[in-house]
Amino acid sequence: MAEYFSGDWLELREPHDAAARDEMLAVKLSAALPARPRIMDLGAGTGALLRWLGLYIGRPQAWILVDADPQLIERAFDTIAERAEQMGWKVTSPGRGVLLVHTPRGAWRVEGLVADLRDAPANLPLHSVDAVVNTALCDLVSEPWLERMAAACVARKIPFYAALNVTGPARFIPPHRADAWVTRGFLRDQARDKGFGGRALGHAAPAAIARAFTAQGYVVEHSPSPWKIPRAFDMMVGELAMGCAEAALRQERREAWRIEDWADARAAQAEQQRLSASVPHMDVLALPGG
Ligand SMILES: C[S@@+](CC[C@H](N)C(=O)[O-])C[C@H]1O[C@@H](n2cnc3c(N)ncnc32)[C@H](O)[C@@H]1O
Repeated sequence: MAEYFSGDWLELREPHDAAARDEMLAVKLSAALPARPRIMDLGAGTGALLRWLGLYIGRPQAWILVDADPQLIERAFDTIAERAEQMGWKVTSPGRGVLLVHTPRGAWRVEGLVADLRDAPANLPLHSVDAVVNTALCDLVSEPWLERMAAACVARKIPFYAALNVTGPARFIPPHRADAWVTRGFLRDQARDKGFGGRALGHAAPAAIARAFTAQGYVVEHSPSPWKIPRAFDMMVGELAMGCAEAALRQERREAWRIEDWADARAAQAEQQRLSASVPHMDVLALPGG
């Protein structure tokens, strides 16, 4: 079964992702695309990347949102339509499973594809797209999976853009005596096989992307895209702490009491708006060379 991600969590992270992503890489990706680009978003969740990157592309464009979870794809369609209407843009549906968002700078055509990415790229219509993009996906996959995906992109000479790859553990302020246990468990869990044919890349994803694409003559750029979550923002910091504790608990059963104590303390701090956090990420853009 594919790893499960809740739509509410993806919605919570969307503004933090938007604030963290590197704009220059988005501009460079946009410049490398044709006049009416067709983009495939892998592990698209609720469509947050389309809502952010679509504005940088700023011209007519077509998206295929790929995810294993049909409910997330459905939620992506609802959220895209809702946000477009808030912007005063018309939304139409020319056919079943297709949405057209009529922005002042051209229409965005959106389609969903329910597919298990563990079988990718064989099960993806890569022949019909001009770029492969993703957010917070490459830390789940294995190196062989990434090499296969890179080979498929290289064969078509299309860009690969991977945003918000986690490059280390979350750091919470104020410190807690069990931080090191949670960090250790979190890092172990990052490497857990997520079904993509081997150990998950975790924080090694940016380097693995660079290796896979530069070996094939692509030019690869990295840019840091950290989350900086202030104390009094929303429920994000508390949810992030609970996610780290859950991951750590999967790996550190013998130290469960320490981690549970940590989670209780972090939940109370978040509730009292005394908890802040930062998470290091890296955005990566691989463009065909020459
Ligand atoms: C961390 S979330 C990121 C979601 C989205 N890109 C965003 O930024 O909000 C990872 C996404 O990958 C999807 N996913 C995980 N494993 C998958 C698989 N084997 N096949 C397809 N989708 C998968 C999840 O359903 C989830 O939507």
